[in-house]
Amino acid sequence: MAQIFDKTWQRTKLCGTFDESDAGQEVRANGWVRARRDLGGIIFIEIWDWTGCIQVVFNPEAGEIHELASKLRNEFCVAVKGKMRIRPEGTENPELKTGNIEIVASDFLVLSKAKPLPFEVGDNTDTVDENIRLKYRYLDMRREKMQKNLRTRAKINAFTRNFLGERNFVELETPMLTKATPEGARDYLVPSRVNQGCFYALPQSPQLFKQILMISGFDRYYQIARCFRDEDLRADRQPEFTQIDIEMSYIVEDDIMNLVEGYMKGLFKEILNTDIPTPFIRMPYWEAMDRYGSDKPDLRVKLELCDLADAFRDSGFEPFRKILEGGGVVRGLRLPGGASMSRKEIMDLEARAIKLGTSGLANFLYKGDGLKGPLVKFLKPEEVDKVRELGNMQPDDALFIVANESRQKACEILGTLRLELGRARADLFDNSPDNWRFLWVTKFPLFEWSAEEKRWAAMHHPFTSPALDNDTPFDEDPANALARAYDCVLNGNEVGGGSIRIHDPDVQARLFKCLGITPEEAKRRFGFFLDALSYGTPPHGGIAFGVDRLVMLMCGGSSIRDVIAFPKTQKAQCLMSGAPDEVEQERLDELAIQVVKEED
Ligand code: AMO
Repeated sequence: MAQIFDKTWQRTKLCGTFDESDAGQEVRANGWVRARRDLGGIIFIEIWDWTGCIQVVFNPEAGEIHELASKLRNEFCVAVKGKMRIRPEGTENPELKTGNIEIVASDFLVLSKAKPLPFEVGDNTDTVDENIRLKYRYLDMRREKMQKNLRTRAKINAFTRNFLGERNFVELETPMLTKATPEGARDYLVPSRVNQGCFYALPQSPQLFKQILMISGFDRYYQIARCFRDEDLRADRQPEFTQIDIEMSYIVEDDIMNLVEGYMKGLFKEILNTDIPTPFIRMPYWEAMDRYGSDKPDLRVKLELCDLADAFRDSGFEPFRKILEGGGVVRGLRLPGGASMSRKEIMDLEARAIKLGTSGLANFLYKGDGLKGPLVKFLKPEEVDKVRELGNMQPDDALFIVANESRQKACEILGTLRLELGRARADLFDNSPDNWRFLWVTKFPLFEWSAEEKRWAAMHHPFTSPALDNDTPFDEDPANALARAYDCVLNGNEVGGGSIRIHDPDVQARLFKCLGITPEEAKRRFGFFLDALSYGTPPHGGIAFGVDRLVMLMCGGSSIRDVIAFPKTQKAQCLMSGAPDEVEQERLDELAIQVVKEED
């Protein structure tokens, strides 16, 4: 009679947890086959689970089970019974945790076979095409690295729940089928069958609901929330992703920052056994832009931008002078030792800057007794000195310069070069695994100009409170209005973002007006929320962390796909399940939906 998997086959221990104290015992192991070797009739296999592997020996005299073992292939799922023994001298494997013990098989069961594998499920499979790994994600996740990443993710979630639960935060779920919440991306829409022609939006975030929970008296809320955004994907973005979403009443910025710093400190200690320094640096948005050319500066890179306006304001170099006269900027990036770059390297760098959106990249090289470069002949000696002084240039340095009408643009271009040049050089980039450089970026602009739509758009989201210390009311000077928004940045990644919210319906209405949202439109899109705001709203604020990004950084990864069990590709497809997919006509009819395909 065929054997079945019953209690008598259940593992006595996980594979990687057997040790010398098991020697002499009858044991059972369950797992997947790796590495079968046949040595003069004796068959060795390794059986693997997430804790590691254990070697099993099949002696020729074992008869039927020896025969079975000879037909095993990798990733067959098996159960074995046998006696544990210390490996004979000279056959130990010091690379394995269980390298000095082995099970001598007395009975054996193939629980299920595996088809020929699309790739070897060793831990070197990062070299396998990612699309194949995603198509066979179940095999990919059997890899040690993926097991470790996803188990770390679960530990981070567990720590989060404990930390917030202990501090009186209430975990509440907000709806997935809901109305649009604007976070700057497109919505995923879900058609309603019972309300034909109507659509739910999947939440871009729980923003409106968490604010309403403050109005309802849940003064400390959190949720590990799934969010959906139909936007262009990159290594750090997925169409569905997870946030640790937090909201609190009767608070100011400091309360959120203190909470988060305590959380991060505890989390890094628990997961990585690292002490991260707190409090984090706080840096206003424009300081971050001016110094690092980014609103998420990577402080591990030891390069800063500089302002060269004073050297060019009255200079004979007309293009820069004109840009400054028109309200633009001239900014520089000093590269230590850069004077030895070849002509080609400098031209390649300029080509890169042009690709990023500037018309050129000027340079000065500090060679021999002074600065050299194409602009020197246009400048008076004291202006050249000024360039050297403002750029803080030392012998052998290079200084790369962008002049642009837009301060933001000039800073961003140099900020990108800063990262690319800095991260490529060990002396300019401290990439050690325990170098965690957190900071808060604060005082964001309230609005940003959308050139496409020719109107102001909310830089964070339209429920963010304007800063209180603005002299001019935000709606009289939208270009300079600041927000009570803050981002939590770690090593050049925005891991979290939040703000103090508007709790006064009149201010909310004025803000919508600035965004060009008419009262009718506001009522249609957010009427329920505006209504709620007018029933005694406490001052409140919050933050949301990107769990995927946080886990990725803590696991030392470079793509959030590696910390998500079933991620989607750049084209928002799940290669394993084949989603998104076409649906039968009948289902579309029920939903009163007609699909019109564009002709090629
Ligand atoms: P925000 O839009 O800044 O704020 O999102 C918060 C954090 O979520 C992460 N994140 C993403 N992660 C993966 N894929 C994406 N597509 C993606 N988009 C965002 C980032 C980001 O810092 N409701 C506000 C929060 C608040 O104000 O409290 C919000 O959603 O790490």
